[in-house]
Amino acid sequence: MSYPYQIRSFEEYQVAYKKSVENPESFWEEIASNFKWHKKWDAVLNWNFNEPKVEWFKGGQLNITENCLDRWVEIQPNAPAIIWEANNPDEKDRTLTYKELHQQVGQFANVLKNNGARKGDRICIYMPMVPELAIAVLACARIGAIHSVVFGGFSAQSVSDRIQDAQCNIVITADGAFRGNKTIPLKSVIDEALITCPSIQKVIVLSRTGIAVSMMNERDTWWEDEMKKVADAPLCPAEIMDAEDMLFILYTSGSTGKPKGVVHTCGGYMVWTNYTFVNVFQYQSGQVHFCTADIGWVTGHSYIIYGPLSAGATTLMFEGIPTWPNAGRFWDIIEKHKVEILYTAPTAIRSLMAFGKDPIEGKDLSTLKVLGTVGEPINEEAWHWYDDNIGKNNSPIVDTWWQTETGGVLISNLAGVTKAKPSFATLPLPGVQPVLVDENGNEVSGNNVSGNLCIKFPWPGMLRSTYGDHERCRTTYFSTYKNLYFTGDGCLRDSDGDYRITGRVDDVLNVSGHRIGTAEVENAINMHSGVVESAVVGYHHDIKGQGIYAYVILNSMHTDEAHMRQDISQTVAKVIGAIAKPDKIQFVSGLPKTRSGKIMRRILRKIAEGETSNLGDTTTLLDPLIVEEIKNNKL
Ligand code: PRX
Repeated sequence: MSYPYQIRSFEEYQVAYKKSVENPESFWEEIASNFKWHKKWDAVLNWNFNEPKVEWFKGGQLNITENCLDRWVEIQPNAPAIIWEANNPDEKDRTLTYKELHQQVGQFANVLKNNGARKGDRICIYMPMVPELAIAVLACARIGAIHSVVFGGFSAQSVSDRIQDAQCNIVITADGAFRGNKTIPLKSVIDEALITCPSIQKVIVLSRTGIAVSMMNERDTWWEDEMKKVADAPLCPAEIMDAEDMLFILYTSGSTGKPKGVVHTCGGYMVWTNYTFVNVFQYQSGQVHFCTADIGWVTGHSYIIYGPLSAGATTLMFEGIPTWPNAGRFWDIIEKHKVEILYTAPTAIRSLMAFGKDPIEGKDLSTLKVLGTVGEPINEEAWHWYDDNIGKNNSPIVDTWWQTETGGVLISNLAGVTKAKPSFATLPLPGVQPVLVDENGNEVSGNNVSGNLCIKFPWPGMLRSTYGDHERCRTTYFSTYKNLYFTGDGCLRDSDGDYRITGRVDDVLNVSGHRIGTAEVENAINMHSGVVESAVVGYHHDIKGQGIYAYVILNSMHTDEAHMRQDISQTVAKVIGAIAKPDKIQFVSGLPKTRSGKIMRRILRKIAEGETSNLGDTTTLLDPLIVEEIKNNKL
């Protein structure tokens, strides 16, 4: 099987790009016609960025799971859809063919219905990386329920916030999760979260680890028991959805307030994830695609589930972590499952780099054809290490820039088709019109320039709203610059016209590829009873990309600083999750503030980076002396 819209040469890329800009509607109409629709759309695109309103294929009727499952069951029922590798290498792997996955999804969709789920309901999924997670996601989509997957590393408080925001009525979880040598008690986190979530009627619990859990009468039920109840029922038919009906909500951090629920819809997201998957990775029928992300993040949604499955691909799901039982785990998996495409994050590459070449020694990586990176800027050293040691200078590396909000990749080279350049995402995909703007909002044209990265025309996979608060969507993304979607990233365009993403220009941190708002961490730290105030900034971290540096004012002097630090870290883990624990906590007697009370983060960032001079003008500060104190006590 081949994909008629797969770009196979640089010339074809140029033709496709030109057409996508000059005639976007006919360009996308042609691509969308390759999918299974029950009814054709009334209009390809309606949009304005002021409200904002973006509609692709409005009036078109489809179900994304028919495109991910049913149409492949007809063509290739026995092709592997999901290959699953357990956390523990001694546990047997599992393969689900398209037919089996279709069957499981149809059955679990019946379970959801039996438990009261209806089209439009919001369902929270808090699960380990097992095939049942993909089944749960697809079963929601099958019945038109909106899934909200929450990463298993988030705390009860974070889960509760997300459930309340979306007013979910069902949670799908597991007793626990295996991660490396740890067992994480997912169900008990859910129990704690649900104390503050009256909207939840049912909790469906998969048995994964066998750890003891408490099950609440009426509310909690086992996945396995529920599946038995519907074992003889006909498989659940797909609910007919409008292209613009919501498919999912995924929470992500911004520079202010609580995480917001990014909304994606059925039609455009399907077309975008499929188109980008097939083109960026140059997927060929039969290849094994290994995306190492967790499905709790957008990368897992788009490039473990929807992109690959809508293309009839084989997607490999890994439950564990790259360094357990040893740092050769990825390479073992690649050898064992003959992986052709590996898609991972710079932070994983850097952490494996630190183990040297021994873990790669003797591993057969010869099946690899394409390597990918995502989530943060990749430094040249890591890029070359990846290229030399994993790709053996024989597999193009795609540096894919995108965001939760963009649904899929926006800027990237196409593997082996357009050229790669270390640390550059290079060129926009067809349909993507990037612009760089200066601080006054004026477009910076020409090459050899830098600015804030914006996109000036809609693409099918873009976010449609932020759940329950459309105004927040407008102010966050569409109000900084008129008629532009603002990404929050800084970017440069070199003399060849290639794009290099330089990192966030707002108060969003990128820690090991995880997006964390400084305000969120500050709020969590401030919940500690001993804390008066705090300020959080990012600083360069060799492995994580960015580390979290917290300046904290305590309400009284504490002699045991180490204990206090640990205690504050625990509070952050409890409020957000372990991923947001500060790497460094410096106790200070005050913070550099302007006379109007604004914290001068610029100064704090420089100090955290180890800069002692060039701190800029500090004379406007309320208390200039505080800067000296902070500088002198830097960790
Ligand atoms: O700063 C950019 C960075 O990750 C941010 C988006 O984070 P999130 O929504 O969690 O999605 C991550 C996975 C798509 C962006 O604003 N980022 C993502 N990919 C790259 C990147 N920075 C540089 N290069 C990339 N390839």
